[in-house]
Amino acid sequence: MTNNPNFALLKAYPFEKLRQLTEDVTPAAKPHIPLSLGEPKHAPPDFVLDALADPATLARCLTTYPATRGSDDLRLAISHWVKKRFAAELDPQAEVLPVSGTREALFSFAQAQLSGKPNSKVMMPNPFYQIYEGAALLGGATPVFIKNNPARDYQQDFSRISSDVWRDTEMVYLCSPGNPTGQIMPQDQLIMLIDLAHEYDFVIAADECYSEIYFDEDNPPVSLLTASSIHGNKRHARCVVFHSLSKRSNLPGLRSGFVAGDAALLSPYLKYRTYHGCAMSAHHQLASVLAWQDEAHVIDNRRLYQAKFRAVTEILAPHYPLRQPEGGFFHWLATPIDDKTFCRDLLAAQNVTVMPGSFLARPEPQSGQSPGDNHVRIAWVAPMEDCVDAAQRLAEFIQTAGLDYA
Ligand SMILES: Cc1ncc(COP(=O)(O)O)c(C=O)c1O
Repeated sequence: MTNNPNFALLKAYPFEKLRQLTEDVTPAAKPHIPLSLGEPKHAPPDFVLDALADPATLARCLTTYPATRGSDDLRLAISHWVKKRFAAELDPQAEVLPVSGTREALFSFAQAQLSGKPNSKVMMPNPFYQIYEGAALLGGATPVFIKNNPARDYQQDFSRISSDVWRDTEMVYLCSPGNPTGQIMPQDQLIMLIDLAHEYDFVIAADECYSEIYFDEDNPPVSLLTASSIHGNKRHARCVVFHSLSKRSNLPGLRSGFVAGDAALLSPYLKYRTYHGCAMSAHHQLASVLAWQDEAHVIDNRRLYQAKFRAVTEILAPHYPLRQPEGGFFHWLATPIDDKTFCRDLLAAQNVTVMPGSFLARPEPQSGQSPGDNHVRIAWVAPMEDCVDAAQRLAEFIQTAGLDYA
């Protein structure tokens, strides 16, 4: 029980809904292949494991309280990486904060930032990462969902938002490359949003945790910080980005990421974090410095995803209308039948779990339809052999179930 009135607004998390949806399904007698959870499974870098296992370092780090603002070395390593990767300058003293993964930061940033005033609104994509919605609701704001429109290659259309809605907007969550759609937000759209942020006085919170997994080596995803620099937005006013080692370096258990951008936003956020007590352990900070300084393992990791997508696409393309994502590690697949039925039937026939799209999206107020309906999210995180096996089972499933897209 809680006395917080906003708590009751929180929805069940998609994985809980999936558990309930499938609890009475008897899966086929084959090894289970879970493709529902986006948990990276490639090997983490050896040099990070070695650093974490060093007894002298551990003895030193485990006997100290880490600083909430992180070590100078870590903030410096992050600012160098951002400069090299995104051509954006950051002051490591004031414009970078280490966080324990982007999830906690995406949530807690809203708690520190939102006013709780009536009519307060927070925009977010639809389908979306559910933390944005929970963060807005617990921050006393109303979520406003901006659809990733299939007719526009899953880009969001901000042009129809009325001035009244913009005036109430305190924060806009962006996700690029998007989970689950894999779309990358173009630079001119980011620049347009920065102009709107200044006109209507809101903050842009850009979740860029998939930025290092992409498929066109000549077109890496741009950051909001790149757009902000090109725009001439002094000191990244009203812009913050969220990054993580979870996907980039296969270290989801390290809980290491950063928030960077406007110092006027990061300063109160640091104060909030000091009270919240969520400083990253000192040995995780040391390991993180090494990970942000190395690019070779990131390139190898990306190549593994590229090879996996080539392999599964070859198997699935004859049977499914596959849209290739620009980034991230998901296929956002249109289904020929209701997405929940598809998931249950697939599990029963092939013992493969995927995530129903309707669990990752909310219905549109006008049409009552959800952009997640008749879609499933497939996370290609398992080892290559398992992904190929799963793709073959998906192909067999659609053929034997007699489903078609007519
Ligand atoms: C869109 C998106 N943002 C943030 C996260 C959180 O990642 P982490 O907290 O490991 O950095 C995830 C994890 O799946 C995600 O899909």
